[in-house]
Amino acid sequence: MSDFITLLTADHRRFEELFKQFDETGDPQVARQVCLELSIHAMVEEEMLYGLYSAKVDNAGAAEARAEHQEAKDLIVVLEGMDPGSDGFAATMTQLKESVMHHVREEENEMFPKVLERIPDTAAMLGADIAARRVEVEAQMRADQAVGMAPSTTSEPTASPEPGR
Ligand SMILES: [Fe+2]
Repeated sequence: MSDFITLLTADHRRFEELFKQFDETGDPQVARQVCLELSIHAMVEEEMLYGLYSAKVDNAGAAEARAEHQEAKDLIVVLEGMDPGSDGFAATMTQLKESVMHHVREEENEMFPKVLERIPDTAAMLGADIAARRVEVEAQMRADQAVGMAPSTTSEPTASPEPGR
């Protein structure tokens, strides 16, 4: 069983790799991939880790982490409305990369060690829960994407096209 730090840190390294690939190639497919993977990662972290962190470890730190996720989500929405070949798109990807890298350093240097130290018993079980939830969120987001919707940003069911069904 992999622990939550191994799991989430592997995601972080993957984001760095994808951002590097985008910088080198400007490939819109890579940009789409990193946005999807960031959305999945952010939702799972918020659901499985931030509530716990807020309640048991550091409430202000959790609020800051949520604000940083929101910043990344807002940038992803901006990117979705842009022409991937434009200068603005590349500049926004750079902004997203910087925002994400800052956030990743804070998690790895502050949040994760504090979780381990303050709630070691819970931390030991988190990895399996996070891995399981990620499978569900990824399936949902890929399904949303397949029907042309932006990735869901909450765990609520996606809007029905027929209101009051
Ligand atoms: Fe995060």
